[in-house]
Order: sequence, then structure tokens, then C-alpha cells
Amino acid sequence: MKAIIRTGDGGPEVLQLGEIPSPNPTETQVLVDVHATALNRADMIQRRGGYPPPPGDSEVLGLEIAGTVSAMGRAVKGVAKGDRVFGLVGGGGYAEQAVIDYRMAMPMPDEWTFEQAAAVPEVFFTAGDNIFTQGGLSTGETILIHAGGSGVGTAGVQISHHAGAKVFITAGTPEKIEKCKALGAEEGINYKESDFVAEILRLTEGQGVDVVVDFIGATYLERNLSVLKTRGRLLQLGLISGSVTEINLNTLMRNRIQLIGSVLRTRSIDEKIGVTQNFMDRWLPELASGKIRPIIDTVFPLAHVQEAHAYMEANRNFGKIILKVR
Ligand SMILES: NC(=O)c1ccc[n+]([C@@H]2O[C@H](COP(=O)([O-])OP(=O)(O)OC[C@H]3O[C@@H](n4cnc5c(N)ncnc54)[C@H](OP(=O)(O)O)[C@@H]3O)[C@@H](O)[C@H]2O)c1
Repeated sequence: MKAIIRTGDGGPEVLQLGEIPSPNPTETQVLVDVHATALNRADMIQRRGGYPPPPGDSEVLGLEIAGTVSAMGRAVKGVAKGDRVFGLVGGGGYAEQAVIDYRMAMPMPDEWTFEQAAAVPEVFFTAGDNIFTQGGLSTGETILIHAGGSGVGTAGVQISHHAGAKVFITAGTPEKIEKCKALGAEEGINYKESDFVAEILRLTEGQGVDVVVDFIGATYLERNLSVLKTRGRLLQLGLISGSVTEINLNTLMRNRIQLIGSVLRTRSIDEKIGVTQNFMDRWLPELASGKIRPIIDTVFPLAHVQEAHAYMEANRNFGKIILKVR
């Protein structure tokens, strides 16, 4: 099968279209003819030689797939050949075929394209699991989502707004801020022009927010703690600016703040099946009915993967970048 091969550690140029053997499904996996996959920020790190796939998962990049079932293991139930499915994988998405545990292969809503389906799993699982299951956001609370225009951000803004929370975001351009407002954000802060701490305190009349979703890491930690209310929750989901810093733990203690770190990829298969089921119960019906939607910035053919990676690294996307495989 055709797949994107990583020829070394480095920039987009190390990604080359080539031929590798198709994967064989285990007893509990289905083999999917992949029609579309999507980029995630983590793919940039893996391309440079970090963030390895969990043991047993494909070395090929790509954390989500949408396609049709072409074969399956003997223990697979409830899935038939030809079914249109989509879901999260530990790796292997940038290829014509990929394997996925049948309990994570979700049926695609009839009216969806493969590109729409491929834009959903990683960002809606991450946003849904963290903001609600880990972070306990509830109706009437306030949330600050950094990088509101990222894939995860665009999912987080929509589901938080849909759940009746007041949403604030940060982003690096006025255009991204306006687009986030169209998805339900109350206000956006251009972090390149204003101090988000001062702005959040102004917008909340000095109260701060209940939940912060952060991908920036080291340089934001102390400031994130300072915009949280008593019993606030800080969800640490990315480390774009680095992972080592020093903070005054007094803020954490005095305000009874919870600092929650989380990664999806390294979780056990049982935990990932649980996250998939929660998503199917809580958010898939809302997506299928169009109340919330996958946000797609650009669709590139698989062969243009280098261009797609350069586009993401330049922070040009609002929402997801899709690779069309067939
Ligand atoms: N923990 C998990 O399980 C998990 C799962 C999925 C993703 N993630 C993390 O979630 C984040 C978003 O992922 P994604 O795939 O949705 O990313 P994405 O679409 O590539 O968006 C990332 C955005 O972050 C902003 N950004 C980049 N550098 C920044 C900086 N130094 N300071 C402030 N903002 C900056 C840029 O927007 P602006 O133009 O606004 O600057 C950029 O477009 C990543 O950090 C990723 O690793 C975590």
C-alpha cells in the first residue's frame, strides 16, 4: 500500500510517499481502507523524532482515520465489510490502509464525508474528555481556552458553549478571534498584543475563570494559575513553550486549584475505548445533528503532506488540516 514514510528526523522534507506492507488486523481489529486522515500538532513532534507511538502501534504518522472496513479479526462484533467508520488510532493514519480496534471504530453519520469524519476524533475526544470528564466544566461556569483557533480549541469552544459555559479564548490573529466568536466564544484576546491575565480579569470583573485549557506550558503556568477562581481547574494538555518552570505553590494551595495533566495517546486500549464510548454518547449525536461541527481549514492530497505540515507549523490553520488519501 501507499503510505507516508518518515525518512529521518527533521522538517517536512523527511516525509515521503512510498510503499510499505499493509497491516494485518489482530483478533479484535478491523482493517480500514483509509479515505481521509488528519494532521495533529503531535505529528510535528513525531516527525522530528519525539513522541513515539505506543508499543504495537504503527510507526507511520496519523492519529485518526475515516474509511471503509475491508477485513477483520475473528473476535470482531457489530462491524461489517464495507461499513463507513472513523476513529482514533495510535498511529498509521497517513496510509491507504490502517487497523483499529473494533470498539473504537465508530459508524459514520450517513450524510458525512470522509473528510468531515477524519476531522473529529482526536480533537473532540481531547476536548470532551478533558473539559468535562477531567475538568468537570458545568453550565454557567467560565472557561479560558488558549490557542482557540487550534483543532482542539475549535472543538473545545463549541462544546463548552453548547454546554452553557461562558467561553474566552486567546489567539494570535484578529481573524482567528472573530472565527472563534462565530463558534460561540464570548470574547477573544490577541496574546501577541495584550496580556491575557489583565484581559481575563477585566472581562470577568476581577473574578477569573473556573477552567483553563492550556497547550503552551512553561511560560503560561504561573499566569494561568493567577486567572483561576477558587476551586479552579487547570488542564495541561500541551507544552508548546516548554515543560520546565518554577511556580509559587501558595497560589495552588490557597485557592484550592487542581492542576490536571493529560495525554490521550499513551492511555491503555481500555481507557481509549471508554473515551470513545463517552464521545459517542455525549457528542456524536450533537455533531450528527449539526449543532456542533468539525472545523476544516484545508484538505490536501496525501502526496502533498510536506506542504500540509509546513502550513500547520506556520500556525496558518483555523481548525483541522485534512489529508485526502483516496
Ligand atoms: N494532551 C492531549 O491528549 C492532546 C491531544 C491533542 C492535542 N494536544 C495538544 O493540543 C494543542 C493543539 O493541537 P492541535 O493539533 O489542535 O494544534 P494546531 O491546530 O496546530 O494549533 C496550534 C495553535 O497554537 C498556537 N500557538 C503556536 N505556538 C504558540 C505559542 N508559542 N504561544 C501561543 N499559541 C501558540 C497557534 O495559533 P495562533 O495563531 O493563535 O498563535 C497554532 O495554530 C497542541 O499543543 C497539542 O499537542 C494534546
